[in-house]
Amino acid sequence: MRRLARFVLVPVLALIAAAALTAPGANAQSSRYEAEDAVCDGTIDANYSGFSGRGFCNTANRTGAYVQFTVHAGASGTFTLGFKYANGSGAARQANLSVNGAATGSGIAFEPTGAWSGWAVATVAVPVREGANTIRLAAATGAGLANIDYLDVVRAGGSVLPTSLQWSSSGPLIFPKSDATHNIVSVKDPSVVHHDGRYHVFVSVVSANQGYSLAYLSFTDWSQAASAPLHFLDRSAIGGGYKAAPQVFYFAPQQRWYLTYQIGDNVAYSTTTDIADPASWSTPTKFYGSTPQIVLDNKGSGQWLDFWTICDTANCHMYSSDDNGNLYRAQTSLARFPSGFSDPVIAMHDPNHHWLFEGANVYRLAGANEYLLMVEAITAGGRMFRSWTSPSVSGPWTPLADTKEHPFASRSNVSFDGTPWTNDISHGELIRSGIDQTLTVGPCDLRFLYQGKDPSASGPYNLLPWRLGLLTQSDSPC
Ligand code: GCU
Ligand code: CA
Repeated sequence: MRRLARFVLVPVLALIAAAALTAPGANAQSSRYEAEDAVCDGTIDANYSGFSGRGFCNTANRTGAYVQFTVHAGASGTFTLGFKYANGSGAARQANLSVNGAATGSGIAFEPTGAWSGWAVATVAVPVREGANTIRLAAATGAGLANIDYLDVVRAGGSVLPTSLQWSSSGPLIFPKSDATHNIVSVKDPSVVHHDGRYHVFVSVVSANQGYSLAYLSFTDWSQAASAPLHFLDRSAIGGGYKAAPQVFYFAPQQRWYLTYQIGDNVAYSTTTDIADPASWSTPTKFYGSTPQIVLDNKGSGQWLDFWTICDTANCHMYSSDDNGNLYRAQTSLARFPSGFSDPVIAMHDPNHHWLFEGANVYRLAGANEYLLMVEAITAGGRMFRSWTSPSVSGPWTPLADTKEHPFASRSNVSFDGTPWTNDISHGELIRSGIDQTLTVGPCDLRFLYQGKDPSASGPYNLLPWRLGLLTQSDSPC
């Protein structure tokens, strides 16, 4: 968790490259429909950067002005619609949605994106019939619609994961450890891979002076985690100063390990060819010249944080959060990684910032044409994780277990041996089945390394006594 700095402006190209990902097909599960190929009750403009394809639909500023898409469904069911839009005005643009002439009920608020070149995605689930469906988005007020770039559609349901999950938790397994120059009060934000017969775990550590830095430990079995020494990564070329929220993966195309992390108000990476040598990490290289404008415009009093990179066969995607209800996604090609990340777009927004807070994870589910998104939320009962799935790593995301009643992981669906040591199921990572940039997990073998704390602990947030424990899914259907 923390703040940021400055960006490399390579924004538009990667987004344009992303546009041609999918073509509409009769039985497609996931398709993109460009607004310039739809019926636009207005003009197709291209005067603001960040759109995909040849332009976006700018409707007239009047009630009823619309953009209309013809969307094909292989069978009747529910589609999640993701409208990519820009709203550079200061107020939400309200729209009514109809499917095949029937109003779908509620209106959609297209929240301000800070600038007409700032883009976000608004999602809504609608019923569709087999064959062609007419999807019309019409302005509910005289302000007209937001500028609309495209519509992504995804068939809801059919996940390989159950919508109801149960877990059992270990006790605390990984604890703070100090040495002569590090007085550590908490251990947080784990990233973990299993490689060469050992778990390799990277964590944030917080000192008594509330400074954040990175540490590493390694062990063959969870029973040895508590006695494994902590190696402080400020002794490597990563150096001192604020660093937090590491993510580790092996980038197979370059045959090297990447560690990404927050650095000041930016995101950086270090690399090594030997994950087992904590002294071998390289000097930090920042991904961005400074904080992207869309983040500055939307983060409010939050911070840009919790960076998460995942690649498919063509592109690498970087998700991030701002503690202000926004989930961001940026993109570069696999060939250009780690360079060339676009300006982020807002992939998901919630007006209740606690309900879409931070700690996002995205994984590929092994053996399925499916990705899993998890985002940490804050509730009165403690921290918890919500979840969504999509056939595409870039969404749009369909709810899987995303409510308090049906959480991905929260105090309410986790059992403990004896008295629960934590009410919080906070920042963590699933145990992956591989090590590479695809971040693949086995859907039958879900385990989640997370941070929790003594429910009676209080005091400044940065001094809370976080420890790490392991959840194991107890109701796997396979
Ligand atoms: C500006 C902007 C347009 C936008 C319009 C609006 O004119 O350039 O792209 O559509 O505002 O308020 O709708
Ligand atoms: Ca307009």
